[in-house]
Amino acid sequence: MSAATQLIELDHEHLIHPLHYPKDHEHPLLLVEGQGEMLRDADGKSYIDGLSGLWNVNAGHGRKELGEAASGQMAKLAFASAYTGATNEPAIRLADRLVKLAYSNISAVYFTTAGAESNESAFKFARYHWKVRGKPQKVKVFSRVHAYHGVTMAAMSATGMAIYHKMFGPLVPNFLQVPAPYPYRWPGNGDPGIEAADALEEAIVKEGPDTVAAVIAEPVMGAGGVIVPPETYFPRLRQICDRHDVLLIADEVITGFGRTGRWFALGHWGVEPDLVSFAKGVTSAYLPLGGVLVSKRVHRSLEEAPADQKFMHAATYSGHPVCCAVALKNLDIFEREGLVERAAIMGRRLLAGLESLRQLPVVGDVRGLGMMCGVELVESREGKKPAIGLGAKVAREALARGLLIRIRAGGTSPAIGDTIFIAPPLMTPAETIDRVVDILSTSIKAATR
Ligand SMILES: Cc1ncc(COP(=O)(O)O)c(C=O)c1O
Repeated sequence: MSAATQLIELDHEHLIHPLHYPKDHEHPLLLVEGQGEMLRDADGKSYIDGLSGLWNVNAGHGRKELGEAASGQMAKLAFASAYTGATNEPAIRLADRLVKLAYSNISAVYFTTAGAESNESAFKFARYHWKVRGKPQKVKVFSRVHAYHGVTMAAMSATGMAIYHKMFGPLVPNFLQVPAPYPYRWPGNGDPGIEAADALEEAIVKEGPDTVAAVIAEPVMGAGGVIVPPETYFPRLRQICDRHDVLLIADEVITGFGRTGRWFALGHWGVEPDLVSFAKGVTSAYLPLGGVLVSKRVHRSLEEAPADQKFMHAATYSGHPVCCAVALKNLDIFEREGLVERAAIMGRRLLAGLESLRQLPVVGDVRGLGMMCGVELVESREGKKPAIGLGAKVAREALARGLLIRIRAGGTSPAIGDTIFIAPPLMTPAETIDRVVDILSTSIKAATR
């Protein structure tokens, strides 16, 4: 029995996976090495990493200097808490650097270790802010259908895909949902950006603005199907939030750190959020780190709160010096190699290539922003009937041809076809981008033959 086969047997016996289902895991891909945008499995077969790991290896694999940053910091000071009354240099330097890179209204950072924890923290920042401001009834959080915000209870409750709720309910109370600005499937002839934003306003008014703390939104929805909003959406959402004193939380766990061709994505539409959740790309996944970028407005509530309203939010690993040291080095790489600008340029090339897939009868929609693209599959273009099951076949065909991708499995309520995600590392060379498009085209043809 080969070492790889032995490992898989042990895996089957003892390892529980995210999205665990034994039949889906009979023949897992055992990756052993990565370099740039390429991965290698235990049998020596190479793959293009078409999703940058899980949308997170933005700088690409095999960056030795990130390993050196981690080992250097571990050797010097492996851990120091950042609880009030203590601090450490990598956390301070990273906070300062992120504030300078982020929206102009951002003035501080709270660190976490993952995206879900960032969102949990953002919800707590929002409630905390309103309590300090004398509005303790403002507790409700709105999110959108098709949203993905993470695995913890509140983040799951804000997630807008029922499949993530089914076996874990009941949901946390006071998390409510409104439609997503999803142009491909928006009913009627109106502007989905305007109408989806107005649907939020109606819902805020119905619930009572005095009860609503925040709305959370991914600038481009990721796991829900790479749904890019119309230009009208976020500017109007911002106005609505301002009108009703509701905080806007941008979930930039995927869209942050260059993925869409900007450091942070709401800049595409000239909008500034009150809180920003981030994770993934901040370290290019070399170590787990996340956080919340906090606007001056919310920061002031923390600074001005009386002693009996302290921010009692205490994560052991907030401001972990090793994770922060790796993030700092990762930002050096981004700046040295111009990865954010590169993502904008290569993203245009990727999207233009994918547009050519529209000739295939099962390709209903092609969309994307920067290095974050989606291809939605349908049974037929006319009725837009979602193709269910085809995405998994395409992913298998692509894997056989050396392209690693993931999909959102489609459904009918609300309707969405299986959607293929394409989001390679930001350093991926132009030739590989073109190869991704070629392999995808061949794989869709093979899957529909
Ligand atoms: C937009 C968004 N928010 C939050 C999360 C949760 O992040 P994590 O899995 O690091 O907790 C994800 C994960 O994919 C995500 O895409």
